[in-house]
Amino acid sequence: MKTKMKKTSQIYVLLFFFLGLTHSLQLTSNGDLSDNEVRLIRHRQLLEFGDRGENVVVDPSLVFENPRLRNAYIALQAWKQAILSDPNNFTTNWIGSDVCSYTGVYCAPAPDNRRVRTVAGIDLNHADIAGYLPQELGLLTDLALFHVNSNRFCGTVPHRFNRLKLLFELDLSNNRFAGIFPTVVLQLPSLKFLDLRFNEFEGPVPRELFSKDLDAIFINHNRLRFELPDNLGDSPVSVIVVANNQFHGCIPTSLGDMRNLEEIIFMNNGFNSCLPSEIGRLKNVTVFDFSYNDLVGPLPASIGGMVSLEQLNVAHNRFSGKIPASICQLPRLENFTFSNNFFTGESPVCLGLREFDDRRNCLPARPAQRSPGQCAAFLSLPPVDCGSFGCGRSSRPPVIAPSPPTTPSPGSPPSTVPSPPSTTPSPGSPPSPPPVPPSPITPIPPSPGPHSPPVMPSPPSTPPSPGPHSPPGAA
Ligand SMILES: *[C@@H]1O[C@H](CO)[C@@H](O)[C@H](O)[C@H]1NC(C)=O
Ligand SMILES: *[C@@H]1O[C@H](CO)[C@@H](O)[C@H](O)[C@H]1NC(C)=O
Ligand SMILES: *[C@@H]1O[C@H](CO)[C@@H](O)[C@H](O)[C@H]1NC(C)=O
Repeated sequence: MKTKMKKTSQIYVLLFFFLGLTHSLQLTSNGDLSDNEVRLIRHRQLLEFGDRGENVVVDPSLVFENPRLRNAYIALQAWKQAILSDPNNFTTNWIGSDVCSYTGVYCAPAPDNRRVRTVAGIDLNHADIAGYLPQELGLLTDLALFHVNSNRFCGTVPHRFNRLKLLFELDLSNNRFAGIFPTVVLQLPSLKFLDLRFNEFEGPVPRELFSKDLDAIFINHNRLRFELPDNLGDSPVSVIVVANNQFHGCIPTSLGDMRNLEEIIFMNNGFNSCLPSEIGRLKNVTVFDFSYNDLVGPLPASIGGMVSLEQLNVAHNRFSGKIPASICQLPRLENFTFSNNFFTGESPVCLGLREFDDRRNCLPARPAQRSPGQCAAFLSLPPVDCGSFGCGRSSRPPVIAPSPPTTPSPGSPPSTVPSPPSTTPSPGSPPSPPPVPPSPITPIPPSPGPHSPPVMPSPPSTPPSPGPHSPPGAA
């Protein structure tokens, strides 16, 4: 980490040195800027205003198979110019007109003309490249897959990504993208798989995200901070992971309307309502993790309707009441974690579960419970009125002053980052995407944290295979 910082600052020092130099050159010149000066000014603009400084000139001697590949050449050369470091030489062979032979670039017959080859996929996963994404990438209009997980790309997502009308999978995970949520993704009509996890996106998430016809949303490990909108239930995703952000407020009752939902991981945010009983309608959910929030009230007995449930984690909240037998009788329940709450009773069935954790509650005659003092203090509080949160679709929550500070619930959040998505991304079987491009794997989730150096950057481990998206095996 230190050495990286050092290198970056060295680059900056060099750059400023050159900028200073041009400045003095300019003083002595007659006012016309040389190409070099123009380039350096562009660089300066990049630093100061985030303007993109690439300038691709296509050598007239280059012969291209078709105009689309010529455009792809411009896009990829602009990108190469926007790369500051490529320690594993992924882009070293990005030279010449045969863009289909570039490392990480996959061509396929164009969807609208099978006789024309076009760039259908980019896969630079685990390349450890530092740089940014230039606007010219918008020239890759036939792109179906864009996977750059585990690199050091920074800046924002270019607005010209809105030209990628066929883009089906966008994986920007484990990079250094920052700024507000990249709303350009809302303009991609073919997008099904959105992976922004382990970046520095901040602020609210547009409610349109949940109305979009997506199959998977991964936005965990960012700095997103907002309340879930009541149209959450409109989302057709099979997987949604928002863990480790600063979401707060209600769990909307419309959650129960998420008709395709299979995995939902909302852990380590600041949600502070009750769990709506409507979740009992989520018949296909196998993983339900709402741990490390500020949720209150009882666990709805309707959870007993979630007949596919295998992993249930509600630990580290302020739930109370008795654990309904219906939950512990779920036919496929493998692991039920409800430690660090204030439950005062559990059905005896629960004690027969293969894997469960009931520690740090107020359960009589169970080991490792909270102290009687803690339990008495909690129980003396006024009872929770779940209706008072106004989490329904019609009634917007009463605007109570500014939203409560999102301090994590009692107990410190998990120190070990949950390794959510390794198990997760299994967005059903999406419709076949336009060109059937090589499927560059699903993201290997960054394990330790956003900025820890990627573990031995290895090239995409899965060979290109047909199919839009091969889910990693379970567990
Ligand atoms: C990348 O190329 C440079 C220059 O040719 C070489 O020194 C370096 O060892 C290469 N790195 C890798 C990981 O192959
Ligand atoms: C839910 O699961 C059932 C049985 O496993 C399956 O038949 C059904 O298609 C699934 N529903 C959805 C919306 O995926
Ligand atoms: C059960 O789930 C908890 C919480 O997710 C996890 O820490 C624990 O390792 C799991 N137990 C098993 C045996 O998988």
